[in-house]
Amino acid sequence: WSQNTISFIQDSEDTIVISKHIYGHFAEHLGRCIYDGIYVGEDHKTIPTTNGVRNDIISALKELQIPNLRWPGGCFADTYHWKDGIGLKENRPAIVNTWWGGTTENNSFGTHDFLNLCELLQTEPYLAANVGSGEVQELADWVQYVNFSGSSPMSNLRRQNGKEEPWGVKFWGVGNEAWGCGGNMTADYYADIFKKYATFMSDYTNGGLFRIASGANSDNYEWTETLMKKIPKTLVKGLALHYYTVIDWEKKGSAIHFTDEEYFKTMKVAWFMEELVNKHSAIMDKYDPKKEIALVVDEWGAWYDPEPNQKQSILYQQNTMRDALIAGLDLNIFNNHAARVKMANLAQTVNVLQAIILTEGDKMILTPTYHVMNLYKVHQEATLLPLKVTCNDYVFNNEKLPALSVSASIDKNNKTHLSIVNIDSKKEQDIKIDLSTKKYKSIKGTILTSKQINDFNSFSNPNVITPKPFSDFKKKNKEVNLTIPPFSIIVLELE
Ligand code: AHR
Repeated sequence: WSQNTISFIQDSEDTIVISKHIYGHFAEHLGRCIYDGIYVGEDHKTIPTTNGVRNDIISALKELQIPNLRWPGGCFADTYHWKDGIGLKENRPAIVNTWWGGTTENNSFGTHDFLNLCELLQTEPYLAANVGSGEVQELADWVQYVNFSGSSPMSNLRRQNGKEEPWGVKFWGVGNEAWGCGGNMTADYYADIFKKYATFMSDYTNGGLFRIASGANSDNYEWTETLMKKIPKTLVKGLALHYYTVIDWEKKGSAIHFTDEEYFKTMKVAWFMEELVNKHSAIMDKYDPKKEIALVVDEWGAWYDPEPNQKQSILYQQNTMRDALIAGLDLNIFNNHAARVKMANLAQTVNVLQAIILTEGDKMILTPTYHVMNLYKVHQEATLLPLKVTCNDYVFNNEKLPALSVSASIDKNNKTHLSIVNIDSKKEQDIKIDLSTKKYKSIKGTILTSKQINDFNSFSNPNVITPKPFSDFKKKNKEVNLTIPPFSIIVLELE
C-alpha cells in the first residue's frame, strides 16, 4: 500500500477538447422509456406536461444540459416506419413492438414529438434510421422531411403537419446492431448496405450530415476493421460501439442485491471499456490517423436481471451507488480518450437499464447515475488535461483492478476540474495531487457517496444519494492531499 498520486502531464502536444456529445443519452421505444415515461400524453389528468412530455423530466434533462438524445432505438429502430408517426394522432396506424414485449403502440410519439422535444431541451437529436426492415427511399424521405428547407414532396408534407422550418438533424445512425437485431448481417455485407443507404441520405445541411455506421458488439474487432477498410470517409463520420456492463448474459444478477464478488466482477467488466476503446481506436488509427472518424459509444451502461413483478416495465432496474461508480469510471475513460471518442449515449434515459430518471405514476426520482452526469457536465467542451495516475490496486481474491479512475479538464473560464472515482468497496484512498505545474487560488469539491454500496434512491426516499460539498482536503503550496472514501466519487474544482 502506498499513497496514490495524480499529476498533470505537461508536455502534451495536441489540444484535445472533450466533446460535449460524450454526455449523450438514449431513449428507445422500450418498456416505460417513451410511453408512460417521457411521454404520458397531452390529456394526462394529473401530470403536468408540455405537448404530452412530463414537465418534471424536461426540467431534469435541461439541468443536465444533455447535448444529444438518440431515438427511436435500439433494436426498435430497425422496425420503425417514421411515416406512421406523423400527422393527426388519431389517424396514425399502430405498431407492434416486436423486440420489446410485443406491446401495441399507437405511434402518438413520432418525429414531430421527438424533434420538438429536442428543440425544447436545446439538445441535438440523433435519429437511428431503419435499415433492417426499411427501404432506402424511406430513409431518403425521412432526411428530406426533417432537413430540407425548399419545396419538395416531403418538406411540403412537413409543413402541412405544422412545421415550416426544417429541424436540421445532424446525427444519423444508419441502422442499429446490424450484426444482431438490425439484420444479422456480416460486416462485409453491412459495409455495402451502409454505403448504399448513406449515399441516398442527402446532405441538405451543407456538410453537416454526420452519418454513423452501426459498429461492433464489444470486442468484435474484425467488425471495426472491415468497416474502416470498406467505407469511404466521404460517407461516414462516426463508427458506433455497443458495450454493456454485464457480468454474465445468462445470469446478470440483481440491480440491488449483490455480493462482494459480483461487485468486483462488475467493476472488472466496467474497466474493460478501457481496453475496448484502446483496441478499437488502434484499428481506426491505421485507416484514419488524423482521427477524422469518431468512435461513438452509442450504447453503454449496466444491465441487470429484471426486477420481480415488472412485466410491463421491460428492462426496468434500480440504480445504486455501484451504478454511479460505473458511470464515473466510463465517463473518465471517454474523457481520457476524447481524441477518438467524440460521442457516447448512456442506455437509457428513463425507466430502462442504467436510467438517470425513474418514474412511478406522478412521481419522478433522479438516480445516482443522474447525479454523476450532473457533476461531470463541467467536462463538456473543456480541454482535456492528460494525467499521470499512480494508484493502489483494488484486490479481491487473487484478482486486482486499479482502485482509482481519474480524468481532468480545463474549461473556458480557466477552471480545472478533476473527477476521481474510488471503486474499492472497502478501502478509502489517500491521494496526493501534485500541483507543481499548476497555479490555483481556490479549491472546492463535491462528493457522491452513500452509507451502503447498494443504497439507492426510491420513490419513498428519493434523496438517499445526492451530491454533497466536500472540503476535507489539505492544501499545501504545490499539492493537495485528500482521502476519498470507499465507493465514492469526488469532483474538484481548482481556480
Ligand atoms: O438498450 C437495449 C438494447 O440493447 C437496444 O435496443 C439494442 O441496441 C441493444 O442490444
